[in-house]
Amino acid sequence: MSEIKFAVIGFGHIGRRHATIISSYPGCKLVAIIEPSEAALAHELYPAGVPSFDSLETMYAAGIQPDVVNIATPNGYHCDYALKVLDAGSHVVIEKPMGLSKAACEDVIFKSLQVGKQVFVVKQNRYSPPSKWMKEIVSKKIIGTVFMVQVNCYWNRDERYYKTGGWKGTKELDGGSLFTQFSHFIDIMYWVFGDVKNIKTTVKDFNHQATTEFEDSGLVQFEFVNGGIGSINFSTSVWQTNMESSITVIGSKGAFKVGGQYMNEVEYCNIENYTMPVLPATNAPNDYGPFKGSAANHHYVIENVVNTLQGTDTITANALEGMKVVDIIERIYQAAN
Ligand SMILES: NC(=O)c1ccc[n+]([C@@H]2O[C@H](COP(=O)([O-])OP(=O)(O)OC[C@H]3O[C@@H](n4cnc5c(N)ncnc54)[C@H](O)[C@@H]3O)[C@@H](O)[C@H]2O)c1
Repeated sequence: MSEIKFAVIGFGHIGRRHATIISSYPGCKLVAIIEPSEAALAHELYPAGVPSFDSLETMYAAGIQPDVVNIATPNGYHCDYALKVLDAGSHVVIEKPMGLSKAACEDVIFKSLQVGKQVFVVKQNRYSPPSKWMKEIVSKKIIGTVFMVQVNCYWNRDERYYKTGGWKGTKELDGGSLFTQFSHFIDIMYWVFGDVKNIKTTVKDFNHQATTEFEDSGLVQFEFVNGGIGSINFSTSVWQTNMESSITVIGSKGAFKVGGQYMNEVEYCNIENYTMPVLPATNAPNDYGPFKGSAANHHYVIENVVNTLQGTDTITANALEGMKVVDIIERIYQAAN
C-alpha cells in the first residue's frame, strides 16, 4: 500500500493529537477533518490546507475517500460513526472506549466482517514499558499462580473538567468514569489477567451531583475466570489533582505493584529468583491543562495502523478486545447495588 490517507472525526483534545501525529508520520496523509464546531476548527493546531467537513456524508460526497477514519468524538457517537465509516469502505480507528454498550460494539464487529475492513481500538497504555513488563511477568508465570489483583484509580475530575453544556458528565455521551477515565486501566487488567466473573459493585456519587449524571466513586470485587480474585477501587473525587492509578499483584512466587498517576512505574517487585530489569522511561501523560490523562503514546497507535495495513504487523487492540472492555464495564455497572 502506498501513502495511507486518514481522516479524523472530532477535532478536540485527542482528535488534535491524532491529526498532528498523522500529519507528520511517514507514509501517512491527513485528507480531511470532520468537526461540526466552528470554535474547534479555529484552534491554532488546525493543520493548514486540510479540508474540513461538518459530517462524514459531506466528506464522502465531496469525493474524498480516506483509507482510514479515526473517531475522536464523544464516546456515545463512536459506534454509530464506526458503522458509517465501515459502510463507506474505510478502515476505522476508534478512541477508547470503543462504545457504551456491548451490543453497539457487536454491531461494529459484524459490520467490519461483512465489509472486510479493519477496526483498531485505541489502548495506548499497552505500549508503556511497565504494562509490557507486567504482561510478560504474568503470561510467562514468573509471578507464579495469580492469587490477588487490586486496581486503584484515584483521580481528580472536578468543575474545571466537567463544563456546563458539555458532553463530559452526561450518561448518554460520556457513560461514566469507568468508561472515560479508567477504561485504560480496566483494559490493562483484562489484557494481562483475562475476563472476570461474580462481580459485586458499590458506587457512590459523593461530590459530583452538580456536574455529572453518574457516580464518582466505587468499589468492585470479582473473581478472574483464570483463577484468583480481584478488585477495582476508583474515584474522581480526589481533591485538586490526580493521585494514582496502580495495580498490585500477589502471586505464588512473589508480588509487584505498578503505580504512579497512570500505571507508569514499577513501585515494588519482589519475586523469587528474579531481578527487576531497568525499564525504559514511560512517556509523559497527555496534558489537558490542569488535568493529566494517560500516557502520550498515540504515535504507537498510528504506527500500528500503518504497519498492519502494510502487512508487517497485527492489530495491538482489536475490536473484540475493545468490546470485551466495554462488556466488563457494562457488567460492573449492572452489578451496582
Ligand atoms: N486515549 C486516550 O488516552 C484518550 C484521552 C482523552 C480522550 N479520549 C477519548 O477521545 C474522545 C474525545 O475526547 P476529547 O477529550 O478529545 O473530547 P473533546 O470534547 O475535547 O473533543 C471532542 C470533539 O468532538 C466534536 N464533536 C462533538 N460531536 C460531534 C459529532 N457528532 N461529530 C463530529 N465531531 C463531534 C466536538 O466538537 C469536539 O471538538 C472520547 O471518546 C474520549 O474518551 C481518549
